[in-house]
Amino acid sequence: MEKFLISASILSANFAYLGKEINDVIKSGADIIHFDVMDNHYVPNLTIGPLVLKSLREYGIKALIDVHLMSQPVDDLIMNFAIAGANIISFHPESTKHIDRSISLIKEHGCKVGLAFNPSTPLYYLDYLIDELDLILVMSVNPGFEGQTFLPYIFKKISKVKKIINKRKRKILLEVDGGINLENIKKIATFGANIFVIGSAIFKSQFSYKETIRNIRIELDKIKK
Ligand code: DX5
Ligand code: ZN
Repeated sequence: MEKFLISASILSANFAYLGKEINDVIKSGADIIHFDVMDNHYVPNLTIGPLVLKSLREYGIKALIDVHLMSQPVDDLIMNFAIAGANIISFHPESTKHIDRSISLIKEHGCKVGLAFNPSTPLYYLDYLIDELDLILVMSVNPGFEGQTFLPYIFKKISKVKKIINKRKRKILLEVDGGINLENIKKIATFGANIFVIGSAIFKSQFSYKETIRNIRIELDKIKK
């Protein structure tokens, strides 16, 4: 059985004490930190850049950092985020003029590479590129904001991506991002997701991060039986 990974989206964290939030959520059981980069151009919101990631590394954050670029263009940011200490970098195919070149840039800088699909972005971008990827990020909300509702038609897309992945010999991870909570995570896992990006359902939970993540794992454990 594949291991399920929880990637906590710091978009929902308190930016006034981001380093502490990351330490707390990792101590509470999150596997990865999801770092949403929004540029007020590709998406209608503005967040954080490589300087913030660099500061977090200098502050002592050792966790795996999964950078989700929702910006246009991406190539300069790819280099700057890799230098700042990113482990995984994902971008959207429509956000760059040369997808293959942007993928190569991520690899050359020693990071794992992900391609991100908005809810309505077709999967044909995978036709020639799937073998270059470590991860496929399926958006289950339109990117830009935390706390949105999971779009039900994405279940079909997740299983399509899973089928494409299963035909390959290499392991490629399937990450789902947006609107994931205790009620729907089990179903999303059943459709084939490996990495679950969770923002508001962790950081805005009425329970502690530890209890919340424990409850999420209980839901995921139900699948293994
Ligand atoms: C949306 C971001 C997501 C978001 C997830 O544009 O890419 O990572 O923070 O937040 P929730 O879990 O609240 O939907
Ligand atoms: Zn994201």
